[in-house]
This record gives sequence, structure tokens and C-alpha cells, in this order.
Amino acid sequence: MTLYINDETIEKVREASDIVDVISEYVPLKRSGSNFVGLCPFHHEKTPSFTVSHTKDFFHCFGCGEGGDVIAFIMKRENLSFPEAVKFLADRAGITIEERKPKDNKYLEERNKGYEINKVAARFFYNNLIKNKTALEYLYKRKINNKVIRQFGLGYALDNWNALYNYLKSQGFKDEEILKVGLIRKRSNNDGYYDVFRNRIIFPIIDIRGRVIGFGGRVLDDSMPKYLNSQETYIFSKGNNLFGLNLVNKLSDRKKIIVVEGYMDVISLFNHGINYAVASLGTALTEQQGKLLKRYGQNIYICYDTDNAGIKATLKAIEILRKLDIEPKIVILDGYKDPDDFLKENSTEDFERKLNTAYNHVDYKVFIYKNKFNINQTEGKIGFTKEIAKVIRGLKSPIEKDVYIDKISKEMNISREAIEKEVFGNNNKVVTNKKPIERKNISPVKVSLPTANIRAEVDLLRLMVFNKEYYDKIMQELSLDYYENLECREILKIISDLYIEDEILNEDMLYERVKGMPNLNMTLVDEIIKKPINFLPETVDQMIKDLVTTLKTNRLENERNRIKKKIEEMEKNQNRSPLQEKEFIQLCMELTNLNKELNLIRHEEGR
Ligand code: UTP
Ligand code: MN
Repeated sequence: MTLYINDETIEKVREASDIVDVISEYVPLKRSGSNFVGLCPFHHEKTPSFTVSHTKDFFHCFGCGEGGDVIAFIMKRENLSFPEAVKFLADRAGITIEERKPKDNKYLEERNKGYEINKVAARFFYNNLIKNKTALEYLYKRKINNKVIRQFGLGYALDNWNALYNYLKSQGFKDEEILKVGLIRKRSNNDGYYDVFRNRIIFPIIDIRGRVIGFGGRVLDDSMPKYLNSQETYIFSKGNNLFGLNLVNKLSDRKKIIVVEGYMDVISLFNHGINYAVASLGTALTEQQGKLLKRYGQNIYICYDTDNAGIKATLKAIEILRKLDIEPKIVILDGYKDPDDFLKENSTEDFERKLNTAYNHVDYKVFIYKNKFNINQTEGKIGFTKEIAKVIRGLKSPIEKDVYIDKISKEMNISREAIEKEVFGNNNKVVTNKKPIERKNISPVKVSLPTANIRAEVDLLRLMVFNKEYYDKIMQELSLDYYENLECREILKIISDLYIEDEILNEDMLYERVKGMPNLNMTLVDEIIKKPINFLPETVDQMIKDLVTTLKTNRLENERNRIKKKIEEMEKNQNRSPLQEKEFIQLCMELTNLNKELNLIRHEEGR
């Protein structure tokens, strides 16, 4: 939910949040002169270069350059947007922030109600679990300790038809509201309701913004169905979410993300210190999930179950990810059912070794097809080679093609020539499976070279499309009227609309809505929406700062030029009336102020 917090409240929160107290909750600090020092929580270090100044209300790390006030610390450490960080600190200090909800937004209110019910239910499940010996024992038997239980907010649904329903009613929720989030169902005789989850271990599914959107529930024995998941609801779409992504985003450095099949795989990996695993929730990976992976991870690993269904799902996931320009690595855990199973008998280091020797997609397919075909027999050998030739044909790089043709030829003892023919076709025509480019889609619009300012506007929009966190950060700094380019301004309005509807921006929807607007320069639009933006998560704050400064400076400069012109005009007139004279002086003062402001920004920039 977007918060609107006024400056006064922000100041109040800042004052109530002693920077040394707050940071001490995360990092042990020692006094050193007038400052405090400790080990930097934002990079690895053995000797402390992280300094907190009480008097200046400021922290700074001489090792990694991170720095800022108490709010900046919480934003960075808890991965929150600016308003969320203020809210976080306000909660800590016991200050209530009045949330000015956008008026008449029934849709939004309904969604918030859904999250609220789920949160209350999750707490109920958790409290049941920590009081239930059987359920706890089940988890302990599976080597899941209390820390992990808390981290994932695991729970237990009582062996009872109405426990949750009654509890939620006692908390003031209405039947229809509970029904809508899929936690209860109507009895077939229409006489009341019953709980969907009963006698199951509960896995809350939490989105990137920390909201409980749905649940999975596992039986404690061998009964069927093993897992039950929340049905798709107005706040839960399985294919748009990844189980565990909230924790990956919060805890890991996001350099790697491993996609696994099951809840238990994610939890086992975390239990072993691997805090960068997510589960695609039992479904085959969807394109939307692929996009999430692309947003939140730099290198993507697939580690599905080793059975046939897992192999099929892996091949499908490879296809989806490569379409999104991701080259996934595939982890092979031969001899084990899944990562959870692997970790029962092997160490974290063993798993990491598997990661380091993960296969690229071609090598993976070679590995799979070798098992599928009996390559010791002629027929199998032919079948295998034909399949692999198809894979090689789909490669973009001629060098890669060459390398693999060579490799397969040697391994299979088949002549290079024969494989080449299989790959390229008989008459040596290069066959690609790419569709020809549709001419009509290329618009002949000429764009004049964008000025530095338009460039900055475009980059800001691309960051805002990328995720809500950046959107919030940027919106906090720049209101709509800072954007001079018409396209940018219109697109930003639509982006804002979409973010009110959902936390994850649907790019296709954005494109559809933008396309419907008259007189837009579509080349620029394409650039904003379709072109991926290159940046490292660790430098994005600086990047936003720079871009914001560019826009702010630009507006001040425009304003200054406007006033300068006016002054020049007035100077021509020697016989100014007293009223004109007053205006003239006013303008001169404004000019001075603007110059001061500009100098200040430039000075800060140059620091
Ligand atoms: P698995 O059966 O591999 O689950 O299904 P798992 O996580 O390894 O379970 P354990 O180790 O036996 O406890 C993989 C995923 O498929 C979905 C769940 O999301 C599960 O985590 N699934 C499986 C269901 O939704 N329903 C089912 O009945 C089974
Ligand atoms: Mn499994």
C-alpha cells in the first residue's frame, strides 16, 4: 500500500529513531572517539570500517562507500522503499502514521482486506504449530529447526473443520471476505462453511512486498493429496509468484537464484545456508516467473526433481528463460530425488560444488538425450545425434555451433560432415527457427537525438517499470511535472495507475494501455518498455540519485533561463513604473536564489 507521509511526521520519526540504537540492533557497535564503529553489514569485512556518528546522525562505511541517515540504513538493510522505511521506524518508535488512503479505491481496499485476513490466518497457523507436539516433531524429523520455522512463518492447520473459520470470525472478518481468499468453502448442503486446510503443515506464500498471498499445506503422513494449495484468488496467482523470493530478495546478494520444484526444497536449502532458492510452486515455470527471476537474480540455476516430470519441466523452463534472454545453468543431482533429498546425505559444500559444475543448456540436453537413447546401438546413436543436431541448429552463435558439432562428432564417433549436414540441412542453407522480421512493424519515425534530459527521463521510467521499490524511491523525489517529455509524462501516469492495481507491473498491460494513446512517439515508448536496463543492484541508488539530480537541475535551469529572459526584457525599458520596478527586483531576487540552489546541487554532485 502506498503511504503518504508528510514531512513533519518524517522528521518526528527521524528524531525518535536514535541512529546508534537502531543500527546496534543489526550490528554490534563499539565506541571509538566521538563515533561508533562496527563490521559493515553491507559488505564482507574483517576489520571494522563502518562508522556511525551520533552527532551527525549519519552512518558511513569507508570500505564500500555506503552511507546515509537512519532511514537510508533501514531502506538498505530491510530492503524497503522510503515510505516503508519510515513506517518501519515509526512502528519501532510507537508513532502512528496516519495512512491517507487514496479515496474511493474500493479495489485497493478489498485487496488489503485479503492480505489482512491471510496475515491473521498465518499467525494463527504459526501459533498452532508451536503448541502442537506432533506437528513440530514432524518438522524436526525433517531437520527443520525453529529458526527456519520462524523465517518462513511455517504453521499448522488443526485437525478440525472450523478452527480457522471460527478464529477469523472472532477477529471480525466476514464470511464472504474469508471465502474470497480461499481459506474456507461452503458446505454442500449450504449450511455454513468449513476450513480448507486441516491437519496440515502450512507454508505461507509471501510476495516480494512481504504480504501473505496464499498457502500451501502438507499432510503429515502419506495420505493424498500430499499438498494442497490456495486456489487462485484475486490476490493470488500461482504463476506470477515464486515461493521464497521474498527471502531471497531480503537476505541474499541476488547474484544467484536457484529454481526448485518444492516448498521443502527451498526450505532445506535455506536450512543449509543457501539463501537464494525459490520454488515455482509445482507448476511448470511460467513466463511471468521467468521475468521475476530476471529482475531479482543475476545468474539463474534450475534444479528440479530428477524424475521424468522434473526433466520435462527443466526442458520447458530452459525454453522459457532463453526466450527472455536468460542463459540458465542446470544443476544435476544424479542419484537423488531432489535438493532436499541430496542435502540429507551431503553437505552445503557438496551442493555448492554441484552449482559450480552446473551444465549449460546444450550440455544438459546432451546428458539427458544420452540417457534417453541407447547410444551403444546404432539406432540410438542416430536418434541421439538427430536430437542434438536440432539443439545445435537453434544456437545463435556460429562459434558455439562449431564447438558443439566438434564435440558431438568426437564423442559419438560420427563424422563432422554428417553432423553439419544434419544441423544445417543438405544444401548447406542455414536453417534458423527465427521468424522473419515483420516489415510493417518497423515505423519510419525519426527521433531527434534525445537530450541528456530525455535520456534521464527514459532511464528513470525504465527503472520504475523494473520494480515498485525503485518506483517508490523515484516518486518520493520527483513529482510528475519534472518530466518534460510528453511521452514520459503520459507513460508515468499509466505506470502509476498500474502500480495502484498491483505491486508487480505487467509490462504487456502497460504496453497495451500506452499504445491506445494518441500522438505518442512509439519509438521512445518501445525504448522505455521493451529495452532491458543494465545496472547492478548495488549501484542503483547512486544511479537514481544522479538521474534525479539531472531532472532537478534541468528544471531549475529552465526556470532560470525564463527569468533571465524576462529580466533582460525589462532592462530594455528605462522608464519602469514603480510596480514594474518592484517586479524587476523580485525577479532579480528569484534569479539569485535559483543560482544558489543550482550551485548547491552542483557542489553536492561534485563531492
Ligand atoms: P514434491 O512431491 O516433489 O514435493 O512436489 P516436495 O516439496 O519434495 O515434498 P516432500 O519433500 O515430499 O515434503 C513438488 C511441489 O509440487 C507441488 C508442491 O508445490 C510441491 O512442493 N505439489 C506436489 C502440489 O501442489 N500438490 C501435490 O499433491 C504434490
Ligand atoms: Mn520434491
